[in-house]
Amino acid sequence: MQVKTIAIGCDHGGFAYKDAIIRLLKKEGIEVHDFGTHSDASVDYPDFVHPTATDVEEGKADLGIILCGSGNGAAMTANKHQNIRCALCWNGELAELARQHNNANMMSIPARFVSKRMALKMVRAFISTAFEGGRHERRVDKIACV
Ligand code: RB5
Repeated sequence: MQVKTIAIGCDHGGFAYKDAIIRLLKKEGIEVHDFGTHSDASVDYPDFVHPTATDVEEGKADLGIILCGSGNGAAMTANKHQNIRCALCWNGELAELARQHNNANMMSIPARFVSKRMALKMVRAFISTAFEGGRHERRVDKIACV
């Protein structure tokens, strides 16, 4: 998949890395939909993650990247959306596997537990890795509760 557009959102726990990620994405020629937050003032992560996930769900963005302190609150919120598969990742290999095996369409970054350098490495891996399909497609097709 050629990634053309990425939705991004975070709370105050992830804010410190958001601008660097946006710069990287723009350098790669990717359009970015930035759903905030826009400062390190304390906020509630669902207020920023739901709009980011909706953008991906509605096909307005190809993939989504969300950040909070632990990555967990953001991932839990995104995964409430029926068509979102959000992977909590903390290294490059996990970001690759999330795309290769799980066809993850969102990645959650635990900004208080990974360096900015690692966060950028994960983003590069996430946007440049394709879903392998095959046996993984059968498994991914069984994830949704219908
Ligand atoms: C905010 O302090 C923190 O709780 C939040 O960023 C995240 O870690 C929640 O899961």
